Amino acid sequence: MYIVGVFYSLLVLVSANYESYKVYSVIPANRTHIELLGLLLSTDKLDFWSRLSYDSRSVDIMVPPQEQRDFIMYLKKHDIQYEVLIDNLETVIQREHVKQQLIPRTFRGKISFSKYNTFNDINAYLYQLQMDYHNLVKLQNIGTTYEKRGMVVIQISSNPSANNPIIFIDGGIHAREWIAPAQVLYIINQLVENPANRDLLDDVDWHILPVANPDGYEYSQTINHRMWRKTRSQQAKNCMGTDANRNFEFYWGLSGASSNPCADTYKGPKPFSEVETQNLRDYLLKIKKNAKLYLTFHSYGNLILYPWGYTSELPHDEFELRTLAKEVNDAIVKAGGPSYTIGSSTNVLYAAAGGSDDWAKGVAGIELSYTIELPGGKKNGFDIPANEILKVVNQTFAGMIVYGKYISVKYKDTWRFPEK
Ligand SMILES: *[C@@H]1O[C@H](CO)[C@@H](O)[C@H](O)[C@H]1NC(C)=O
Ligand SMILES: *[C@@H]1O[C@H](CO)[C@@H](O)[C@H](O)[C@H]1NC(C)=O
Ligand SMILES: [Zn+2]
Repeated sequence: MYIVGVFYSLLVLVSANYESYKVYSVIPANRTHIELLGLLLSTDKLDFWSRLSYDSRSVDIMVPPQEQRDFIMYLKKHDIQYEVLIDNLETVIQREHVKQQLIPRTFRGKISFSKYNTFNDINAYLYQLQMDYHNLVKLQNIGTTYEKRGMVVIQISSNPSANNPIIFIDGGIHAREWIAPAQVLYIINQLVENPANRDLLDDVDWHILPVANPDGYEYSQTINHRMWRKTRSQQAKNCMGTDANRNFEFYWGLSGASSNPCADTYKGPKPFSEVETQNLRDYLLKIKKNAKLYLTFHSYGNLILYPWGYTSELPHDEFELRTLAKEVNDAIVKAGGPSYTIGSSTNVLYAAAGGSDDWAKGVAGIELSYTIELPGGKKNGFDIPANEILKVVNQTFAGMIVYGKYISVKYKDTWRFPEK
């Protein structure tokens, strides 16, 4: 194991992809600064690790060596403050990779929360749950990816014939956001394997897609492509992938999405160009009558966001969306977690159209729709270090209990009678 690790490290030193890449933490002082940084979003040279926001919080931007001089000049010219968050990204990625290798392999069918699991390990766990808990768990293959991987939804229900309201959750639509599938897996683990949470299944069914972009997720696990975000479909001659979270057909391309196939926020050649977003769309449309809450996990930034992402106008039920988000945040904070910033996407962040949350609400009619941006790794790289996963996912789960209870209470009295 150790020998293999060393040999591998030697190999990748030759082809180091992120050598001398830097990550800058940029601190806009006012609206003008934010607009000036917004202009940089459309370039395919820079990579925004966190989302540009209006509350003057810092934004982390990865810059390749050949762009660093111009980038710094731009910041200085406009008097925008910054600091170097990561001096040489390659070092950070190598370190993360070696740590991943040193953690022993889990047995097939078991899941770990002290490392980031591979796509195969995740699926093996889902199949094991189906075998061990066949009264609670049913797996549904909702289609295959561009590279022909299966996309598996786990349906958790203690009474499938009760026509219960459904909470739908996905994670990992952006490949490199590894904490998102980890979070979603913990939710699955707690709902299925922890009897103390059984009451969360009494009046609600949970349908969960742990890895919404399997091709990208696997690709980001290869050390030279750690920062991969998009799908893996062939777009231009030298550029692969579409930003799946800009690919949904609801004011598609209106704002915050790139038309450049090489950019990290490429919206795709047309709405739902990606088979992965098609599969997710078709499944949500199938369950939309009962689906009452849509949650999509991302990283990073400690944000609980609700629609709209394409406009700063607020949805008609903004009060409910905000109040529920506040209760979720209170529960997370009470469990020892960080405090999340709450708001409609476009009031907190720079606008971005084509997201799954907007589509879930605007088209599928799932009124309660949230994007949760989990904590990031900062100096340790994009994701939090593996030894912090359990702490974070445990804290966030406290918020999931609030969501579950809310849906249960909201629909309890009326739900027993099928609509005519
Ligand atoms: C924004 O801040 C910068 C530097 O702090 C300053 O030079 C500029 O005048 C400010 N712009 C506005 C519109 O306040
Ligand atoms: C978090 O972890 C603690 C300690 O292991 C445990 O007692 C608690 O039930 C967990 N909470 C959740 C919400 O998973
Ligand atoms: Zn994301």
